[in-house]
Amino acid sequence: MRIDILTGVPELLHSPMNHSILKRASDKGLAEVLIHNIRDYSTDKHNKIDDYAFSGEAGMVMSIQPIDDALTKLKNEREYQEVIYTTPDGEPFNQKIANNLSTCKNLIFLCGHYKGIDQRIRDNLITREISIGDYVMTGGELAAAVMIDSIIRLIPGVLSDETSALTDSFQDGLLSPPVYTRPAEYKGWKVPEILLSGNAAKIEKWRFEQSLERTRRLRPDLLKEE
Ligand code: ADE
Repeated sequence: MRIDILTGVPELLHSPMNHSILKRASDKGLAEVLIHNIRDYSTDKHNKIDDYAFSGEAGMVMSIQPIDDALTKLKNEREYQEVIYTTPDGEPFNQKIANNLSTCKNLIFLCGHYKGIDQRIRDNLITREISIGDYVMTGGELAAAVMIDSIIRLIPGVLSDETSALTDSFQDGLLSPPVYTRPAEYKGWKVPEILLSGNAAKIEKWRFEQSLERTRRLRPDLLKEE
């Protein structure tokens, strides 16, 4: 998979993209993330990428030209399945969307900043608008990093077997059951007896019941979804 990120603040993305799972995926040749500075595409003599809103509203709006030129250049080089704009008024991101995007070959993320981007970019150049939650951040960079992390870890071969994404919370619509490690008792706090029983079938049943109980208690909304 190849992911191109368009941003006015590339510094915000260098660290998350060069560490942990994303670094491992790129070292293994399974995913490549390229960060592009929108400013490099500006034809303005001061490399400006924003301007005042026509409405007179306070706050700057990201201009069309540098974003259109950057997108045109990338789209001339390869075919992209989605051009995603990260924005608080987009569709809410979830595991299903992560699963779906993890099967794509090429993706573009456009990170918004300031008061937003010129609506004509959204109307004509963006194929999908996604939010990571009902709160407003300064820009879309951290939202893109969150989404890209959860997408890339789903690509086969990125995670080792023991951390397989198939057993993640949300993957089957339920939260994960609790996990324990040695010692079996610490300060009188005991690991549930059943986990020490060695009875694989009973343990599996217990894990499922725990998942269901946790989901009912913490996220009953998940049980109501289709
Ligand atoms: N940009 C600012 N806030 C955001 C959010 N909640 N989700 C996605 N992009 C954003």
